[in-house]
Amino acid sequence: MENKTQEEASTIKVSSLTCIDLANTNLHQSAASLKQACLDCGFFYVTNHGISEELRDEAFEQSKKFFALPLEEKMKVLRNEKHRGYSPVLDQILDPENQVDGDYKESFFIGIEDFKDDPHGDTPFYSPNLWPDSDVLPGWRSTMEKYHQEALRVCKTIAKLLALALDLEADYFDKPEILGNPIAVMRLVHYEGVSDPSKGIFGCGAHSDFGMMTLLGTDSVMGLQICKDKEAKPRKWEYVPSIKGAYIVNLGDLLERWSNGIFKSTLHRVLGNGQERYSIPFFVEPSHDCLVECLPTCQSENKPPKYPAITCKAYLTQRYQQSHVDLSIYKQI
Ligand code: OGA
Ligand code: NI
Repeated sequence: MENKTQEEASTIKVSSLTCIDLANTNLHQSAASLKQACLDCGFFYVTNHGISEELRDEAFEQSKKFFALPLEEKMKVLRNEKHRGYSPVLDQILDPENQVDGDYKESFFIGIEDFKDDPHGDTPFYSPNLWPDSDVLPGWRSTMEKYHQEALRVCKTIAKLLALALDLEADYFDKPEILGNPIAVMRLVHYEGVSDPSKGIFGCGAHSDFGMMTLLGTDSVMGLQICKDKEAKPRKWEYVPSIKGAYIVNLGDLLERWSNGIFKSTLHRVLGNGQERYSIPFFVEPSHDCLVECLPTCQSENKPPKYPAITCKAYLTQRYQQSHVDLSIYKQI
């Protein structure tokens, strides 16, 4: 506990992250700043992304409406085994070593429905979405579908810069097996309560994201913190503020693996301060069957691949299972 107290005492700083202007036509310049940000900490902002403020506000408004429904109504769309639908408070525990219960957040998963390559519907993460009753929340589905489409478009633009930053062709990640048929999961999140790290209570425990990259929209309530050096003892946490009109982007563990550890996925967590906080992370991963093995530009004789190849679905299944409670517990309630 003494260490924890020390750790929290050092939580004072507000991070200043690189900002990438997606409207900059000088792609090589953008890729160079992106590369620096990815080598440094794997977190950055993007501006001029083309998602209208109106659509973003609408998605947040609709998200608030959903979480304001009675629990009974939300449980009608309880998440299925393919991670679509409602995930109640304490459904996930991201940092079991330091958390007592689980994450004090509730969320809602929305994925892609157009899955041409899955005729039998037996692939993990492919499932029709679960939607709240349209009489209860009119217009909800169309807002979320529109936002999903737009967020994916932005992520594909960022992927081009990431490819250039990794000395690959700009369209490297556009291949059918990569982002041609991506797993792209939008997650509406609602945090509540006051976190107390010394008691192991967190809005969301320390973790790095599982996939390739995350496009994170948050409201203006502070809460997100990053730790740039996971080995440091005590760990130093810095707040990442929300910037109006910008999105926060962070790299996930799958990209760290793919890039042979060159690009970093950074540890982050969310502390609740008693105010309601809403966010919409959008997680992007390649297709289910994509074999994630060291990229050609990230290895050499002196730097052989550090990680064995793994399919995207095998990797993600393992990470989702490890961090979520077993669905059967809800049958007993
Ligand atoms: C996540 C996450 C941060 C936030 O969902 O993986 O880190 O601000 N969210 O909600
Ligand atoms: Ni995260």
